[in-house]
Amino acid sequence: MFPGRPPARRAPAPALRRALLLLQVLLLLRAPAGLLGDRTRRVSLEVIPGQTDLSQTLLHVRAVGANSTIHYVWSSLGPPAVLFVATDTPHSVLTVNWSCLLSPEPEGGLAVLPAQSVRFSSALVFLRLFEFDSTNSSEVKDGSPGKPYPPYQLADFSWNDVNSTLDPTTLSATFQGRPTKDPFGAFTNGSLAFKVCAFSGSGHPAQLPRLLHTADTSQLEVVLSGAVPRGNHSLFGLEVATPVFNSECPQLKEQESVDDEYSPAVFQLDQLLWHSPPKGFLQWRPVAFSQRQPTWKTALPCQVSPPGPTLTGLLSQSPIVRAFFGPSFNFCTFNLTFGDSTGPTYEDQYYLSWSALLGIGIPPVDSFSPLVLGIMAVVLGAPGLLLIGGGLSLLLLRHRRYSEYEPIS
Ligand SMILES: *[C@@H]1O[C@H](CO)[C@@H](O)[C@H](O)[C@H]1NC(C)=O
Ligand SMILES: *[C@@H]1O[C@H](CO)[C@@H](O)[C@H](O)[C@H]1NC(C)=O
Ligand SMILES: *[C@@H]1O[C@H](CO)[C@@H](O)[C@H](O)[C@H]1NC(C)=O
Ligand SMILES: *[C@@H]1O[C@H](CO)[C@@H](O)[C@H](O)[C@H]1NC(C)=O
Ligand SMILES: *[C@@H]1O[C@H](CO)[C@@H](O)[C@H](O)[C@H]1NC(C)=O
Ligand SMILES: *[C@@H]1O[C@H](CO)[C@@H](O)[C@H](O)[C@H]1NC(C)=O
Repeated sequence: MFPGRPPARRAPAPALRRALLLLQVLLLLRAPAGLLGDRTRRVSLEVIPGQTDLSQTLLHVRAVGANSTIHYVWSSLGPPAVLFVATDTPHSVLTVNWSCLLSPEPEGGLAVLPAQSVRFSSALVFLRLFEFDSTNSSEVKDGSPGKPYPPYQLADFSWNDVNSTLDPTTLSATFQGRPTKDPFGAFTNGSLAFKVCAFSGSGHPAQLPRLLHTADTSQLEVVLSGAVPRGNHSLFGLEVATPVFNSECPQLKEQESVDDEYSPAVFQLDQLLWHSPPKGFLQWRPVAFSQRQPTWKTALPCQVSPPGPTLTGLLSQSPIVRAFFGPSFNFCTFNLTFGDSTGPTYEDQYYLSWSALLGIGIPPVDSFSPLVLGIMAVVLGAPGLLLIGGGLSLLLLRHRRYSEYEPIS
């Protein structure tokens, strides 16, 4: 499916592999429901309007459980950013002082109160949109996507009025932007959109990549569409930053629930895991889509670089991050790159979409999918009936799994 993509990992020996799978299955069985044990949440989405400018608004997702609240604050002040905070009370509130937030020194302009209820807080800032020329094969090697064009600084984009896109029934809203200065008119008919979606319960969306969500999580879909690429076979990428208070970056983990040669992307999950419990996480399947009607067959590979510490410089531009965390923190950044020099590309339909799930607590995993039940039957399978039954159910489930995925492919 991914022509030219080198095999990422060597498969472990069968015995080790079985042991790992068993361990994984057991862990899945033990996974509690979510942060601080809250099984249900009341989830709401509101736009917090600024003072005058309609593009100066915040989007606030509040997910209230019996003993905890998770807040997501999305903003297009400066570069697009999201602040995510978990508190150990159902009564925590977000307060915004707009005159402070929009001032040159925004520290303290945004807070989640009571401050001592905060158990976890972090943020993601989307800094730059990269574009690479992947046509020169001597430039495309050692994992390099090609020769970079000057990047688009997302802090220099102008954004729509997010309130006009708010849909309270689907708990979704979209920030849509284009460069303020666009000398070559690349974005005349194009835009970069950050589609945010919250959930009142758990499940899979109908659209690929069908990440399993819970009420603890928010989904982000980044969509580049209609913009004119600067060359033939341009590859695009995103630079993402997260604030850290020591030099310890969140950890990148590439997880593979099973080695499925036919559909590698279906069972691969890349995760960024913050260290302190309750942990924050960002998870995504290592794919992007270059078609409005995505299918696994036409998915592009999505590569990620491990997060590394970065000097602040251009990073202090995010007012919500400074407002919440104060002036003294470092950043870790990582790059996402979509596509490769040989496969399908943005150019085909002037369209690129990548989705990820952001959350706090235990990352959702497809624990009782037919696949895992099949693995359980095989791994745990005692001799005799269970083995036969397990083998049979594996066959049936395998069949069902493909029939499940086939219609949407
Ligand atoms: C909430 O916290 C109280 C006191 O700590 C505990 O008794 C109760 O079981 C918790 N509820 C949930 C849903 O976790
Ligand atoms: C909001 O911030 C401004 C400037 O930082 C400050 O003068 C004002 O007192 C603050 N307002 C409130 C209600 O805290
Ligand atoms: C390809 O890249 C190499 C190394 O940067 C350069 O020397 C060469 O001129 C490039 N070829 C073309 C056709 O641009
Ligand atoms: C934008 O769309 C219009 C109408 O479809 C077309 O005439 C124009 O050439 C397009 N501009 C660019 C830069 O693609
Ligand atoms: C793109 O390809 C076309 C035809 O293959 C060629 O004429 C054109 O110069 C190329 N453009 C760039 C920017 O390389
Ligand atoms: C991300 O990509 C840019 C441009 O290619 C590069 O300057 C930067 O060092 C990369 N950052 C990381 C963390 O790899």
